[in-house]
Amino acid sequence: MIYEKLTLKEQGWAAETEKKIDEKLKAVRERSEKKIPSEAKDGVHDDKKAMEGPSGMTRTFWTNGFWAGMLWQMYHATKDERYAEIARYTESVLNPCLLEIESHDIGYLWLPTSVLNYKITGNEQAKADGLTAAKWLAGRFNPACGFIRAWGSGNEALPLVKDAPPIHIAGATIIDCMLNLPLLYWASETSGDARFRLIAEEHAFTTMKYFVRGDGSVIHIGEFDPVSGEFVTDHGGQGYGKGSAWTRGQAWGLYGFTASYKHTRRPEFLETAQKIAGYFIAHIPEDGLIPSDFCQPKEPHVQDDIGACAAACGLLELSELVPEEEGAVYLNAAVKMLQAINESSADWNPDTDGITQNGTAGYHLPGRNQNYIYADYFFVEAILKLLGKDVFVW
Ligand code: GLY
Repeated sequence: MIYEKLTLKEQGWAAETEKKIDEKLKAVRERSEKKIPSEAKDGVHDDKKAMEGPSGMTRTFWTNGFWAGMLWQMYHATKDERYAEIARYTESVLNPCLLEIESHDIGYLWLPTSVLNYKITGNEQAKADGLTAAKWLAGRFNPACGFIRAWGSGNEALPLVKDAPPIHIAGATIIDCMLNLPLLYWASETSGDARFRLIAEEHAFTTMKYFVRGDGSVIHIGEFDPVSGEFVTDHGGQGYGKGSAWTRGQAWGLYGFTASYKHTRRPEFLETAQKIAGYFIAHIPEDGLIPSDFCQPKEPHVQDDIGACAAACGLLELSELVPEEEGAVYLNAAVKMLQAINESSADWNPDTDGITQNGTAGYHLPGRNQNYIYADYFFVEAILKLLGKDVFVW
């Protein structure tokens, strides 16, 4: 167990941090009970459930599962019923919109909501909703390419980042999808239908082949010919540029392959997770604070707590799957990143809504060094993991 491998001081720190999370969230949850927050600006949560998107995707913004996920995790840890009550509200808002989603982010949306609800409470409706979500995700599989398509259902070329080459989305998949796969693994385990797992495994093998570089870093976006399946090119996406190493992408790969190994026990997935972890750890700066891209210039300071916290969760899980000495390296790296965030910028004031203060959406996107709900979610998941109090979502 992770907790037993921590020093006494680290154990005390983790317990103290859980207490601070609970104290803060007890206040935040009342202010945000009818919101689905994505970020806090000037200390106030926004509300994405009201957001109007291009194709009527008002309520299915990809981060809309994390608020409920954080509440469910805290419910599990504290047994405070109010957390569960508010988490259920997100589900009631998301579920009617499932079939509006034209992206792979179905896993990020339904794993921390319906599936987590089912795992914690055994609610049968939540299980049925999770399985419906898995079917919708599986439907995005392209057998010629051997992957789950990332965005859209049309054939347009989209400029994800201003001034970057457009991406032909019909043949695009991204490293982020590695953490959508657990919805399919869960669906197979729950329904007994192997097709979900087989799709997930094939996607993971394709990602292994085309996304993971020799040095253990990963690309963000892969563009393929959607009919022949031939690899066309890679894109820098939310990272610094083509050939760079977007830290959150490294985290999605690291945690995604770790989860794939946990569900399938295929050694290739473990080896890939170790390879990405090796690259990630070798690039953690002295101060433990993770940049948006490991290849970005020193100035300006662009930090990503989201990548740091997601990577920390992946490293903690991985630490339990490898020999002890190697596991200790992963555990220490995770603790270092979490403590660095806590010491440098965590906001424990109960009058403001966000915890972490230095997430970045993408190196060239608006929204640098600010609060994001998914950084807070992964921070909370990681702290509870240290204490052995989390539920494994992915
Ligand atoms: N999955 C999109 C992101 O990490 O920003």
